[in-house]
Amino acid sequence: MRKRILSGMRPTGPLHLGHLIGVLENWKKLQKEYDCFFMVADWHALMSEYEKPKALRENIIDNAIDWLASGISPKDSTIFVQSHVKEHLDLHMIFSIITPLGWLERCPTYKEQLREITNRNISTYGFLGYPVLQAADILLYKANAVPVGEDQLPHLELAREIGRRFNSLYGEDVFPEAKAILAENDRLAGLDGRKMSKSYNNTIAISERPEDIRKKVQSMFTDPKRVLRADAGHPENCNVHKYYGIFAPCRKKEVEEACRQAKIGCAECKKELAEALVNFLSPIQEKRNELLQDKKRIIEMLEQGRIKAQAVASKTISQAKALIGL
Ligand code: TRP
Ligand code: SF4
Repeated sequence: MRKRILSGMRPTGPLHLGHLIGVLENWKKLQKEYDCFFMVADWHALMSEYEKPKALRENIIDNAIDWLASGISPKDSTIFVQSHVKEHLDLHMIFSIITPLGWLERCPTYKEQLREITNRNISTYGFLGYPVLQAADILLYKANAVPVGEDQLPHLELAREIGRRFNSLYGEDVFPEAKAILAENDRLAGLDGRKMSKSYNNTIAISERPEDIRKKVQSMFTDPKRVLRADAGHPENCNVHKYYGIFAPCRKKEVEEACRQAKIGCAECKKELAEALVNFLSPIQEKRNELLQDKKRIIEMLEQGRIKAQAVASKTISQAKALIGL
């Protein structure tokens, strides 16, 4: 039997290169090896977007389209929407009852987000329980492993603790321990060198139009020590050069040498990168446009995913409910 994976993404907007390189490429590899459940985490998105939920429904479909266009396949994986499988809420409730408040209040991601997210009101009861729902997502499918970014490790640790607490309270090993699978690729930095994120306005979307890709690449930060065209560059300190490594690996070495000897200027260097990126994204965008023509097919695919996910989820819930007397 293949080991099981569960992972999810919040549909808060169009997916970008950070998602593509940091997450989807990884999922694509894993789906050949594991029994994969990939979930559009719409409840989690709503926890921060509830004041303006209008785009949510569109984002759910759009993100699913990005997944498919990037090579996540419903033949290999179970692709579904969190809110379509109501068992997530049953387990969330059960876990809410047994999770000590202190575990959530101490959670570093919670404290950080309360500090950093100032344009929305997230000091809600629901948001405190964000990791409880995430634990329910993972344990509902008895996942053995969860591919996540490093920022999610505290949530995974909490999921293990909550699972352990359930098992020990009710005397049965219902929930296995899920281990983290960290992506091999380094996180792709945004245009300005910070983490790529919509809130920093430094992203290139998977669906970005070629002319916008060209403009955005020209705006990328480069080696800060290279001021004049005649200055020798330091590609190891240049984000553009890192992009070469991913999107035009066969040109990486040459560009590196040319940069060190000031034989290539930054504008030219970026111009070439932009074309490489346009070419890299072109087959994905073509697939996207094809899928966008037939949204009914996407909805049907998500419904098939729901059926497969729910078959597993409902068994776990029956088992858990029996143990707690419901
Ligand atoms: N919290 C995750 C994120 O923001 C999304 C998520 C929700 C998730 N449920 C999950 C990830 C379960 C892994 C497993 O990226
Ligand atoms: Fe970066 Fe290219 Fe400029 Fe060198 S030439 S500093 S690699 S953008």
